[in-house]
Amino acid sequence: MAYVVEVTHPSTGKKQLIPMKGRMIFIGRTAANDVSLNDNTVSSRHARVRINEDKIELEDLKSANGVFMNGERITRTASLEEGDEFQIGPYLLKILTQSTETAAAVKVAEEEKEKAKEESYRFDPFAFVKPFLEPINEFLEADGISEIMINGCDKIYIEMGGKIVKTDKKFSSEKALLAAIKNIGRTLGKELNDQSPRLDARLDDGSRVAAVIPPCAMTGTYVSIRKFSKKALGIQDLINFGAITEQAVRFMELVVIMKKNILVSGGTGSGKTTLLNIVSTLIPHDERILVIEDTAELQLQQEHCLRMEAKPADKKGRGEVTIRDLLHSTLRMRPDRIIIGEIRGGEAFDLLQAMNTGHGGSMSTIHANSPKDALSRLENTTLQSGIELPLKAIRDQISSAINIVVQTSRFEDGSRKISHINEVLGLKEDMSYQVQTIYKYERAGKDKEGKVLGHLTYTGNIPTFLDEAIKADFVKSAEQLFKE
Ligand SMILES: Nc1ncnc2c1ncn2[C@@H]1O[C@H](COP(=O)(O)OP(=O)(O)O)[C@@H](O)[C@H]1O
Ligand SMILES: [Mg+2]
Repeated sequence: MAYVVEVTHPSTGKKQLIPMKGRMIFIGRTAANDVSLNDNTVSSRHARVRINEDKIELEDLKSANGVFMNGERITRTASLEEGDEFQIGPYLLKILTQSTETAAAVKVAEEEKEKAKEESYRFDPFAFVKPFLEPINEFLEADGISEIMINGCDKIYIEMGGKIVKTDKKFSSEKALLAAIKNIGRTLGKELNDQSPRLDARLDDGSRVAAVIPPCAMTGTYVSIRKFSKKALGIQDLINFGAITEQAVRFMELVVIMKKNILVSGGTGSGKTTLLNIVSTLIPHDERILVIEDTAELQLQQEHCLRMEAKPADKKGRGEVTIRDLLHSTLRMRPDRIIIGEIRGGEAFDLLQAMNTGHGGSMSTIHANSPKDALSRLENTTLQSGIELPLKAIRDQISSAINIVVQTSRFEDGSRKISHINEVLGLKEDMSYQVQTIYKYERAGKDKEGKVLGHLTYTGNIPTFLDEAIKADFVKSAEQLFKE
């Protein structure tokens, strides 16, 4: 059964119909919501509607001004019948099933929205590189292409839907390609030559252009263009891809609300940042969040969010500001949560200390190929902090700071999925980490097209903080939390 949300606008009385794309939608003030209601009295992420079998559940996401039914504010959740009216700010809303009549109205509304969206995307971050990169312009324009890789003038690859494909596009010669890249460098204020053969640039929309020219690049000029995807993936997208399940989302929500510290681990391009972004949307809106990144990628929706970006040194080696520096400032700025885009070096030790001294609910990512590897990578980065501590002390810090490790993996069919959600319990006698797996991706072969089949499955292990969660009334029981 397909559902639509009917929104009645307070001043005009005009009705708008918005189709529910998945089984769960968010309602709030910002455009990141499925239903966005532009009024000051609406919280940026205000409420959620979930279809559970044929039941409709309405949930108030700790909004400032509440959700009302029949003139009364609902306590956290309420169940709705089709057509029941509820109120958020000045708006009246209803959930309807999609009859043919509404289907037609929805289609018109959808088309209008698409058109508006296209208008707003007309700004082209690649406009200034296009004249130099004529052979690959169509790739710069195509939405489904996430990366363009030039490995010399006649070897051009693209990444589409997670798969790398060789194209038949070519530059006329190595010289032409080199000239093109030098021109792009010049436009960005960087002269490329033997002394300075590398380019690493970020475009206005967050896309990146990286290049290495000969002699360092040995078989031609190498260029890699990472296109920033315009729309960040949301929870429902990941559920639709089979990357996570609703049940695991529920579990992660609990982890976030209980302010457990989360480390997302995965290889390059496995979806760490995407997942961190999604997990961050689960943070309650009344918390003060400080975000520190090397390159601003995360798109937090919360109002009370401060974002900081590290800064490399200038040509003369001056003015570098590291993640670690920014973390030091952050600790003096009364954070409720600290989010670090990726742990790479000296900041690790400071972050662990922060996590261990009351800054619960912090989150970050690390480059590692398994949950176990994530913890040992964290040890290595901690050692890079220049702290002289015995290994046991470092492991103690890590095992008490990190509560949950979520592993993202890229499978051979190009799909990205969560492969593990682990809880770190402490250290064993032999100084190894004691860990329990709460969720694990169970593979079930492949389909005819080679698509990996399987399911992120609850293992039956009970998280140690479940009792605490029940006492705090976040969940009723393990059965409720882990029901299908
Ligand atoms: N579960 C997923 N399914 C499909 N594509 C995904 C998924 N997670 C991430 N992506 C896409 O994969 C690319 C790399 O994701 P990103 O989160 O930047 O990876 P990482 O931070 O691990 O390098 C992005 O284009 C992103 O949109
Ligand atoms: Mg990343």
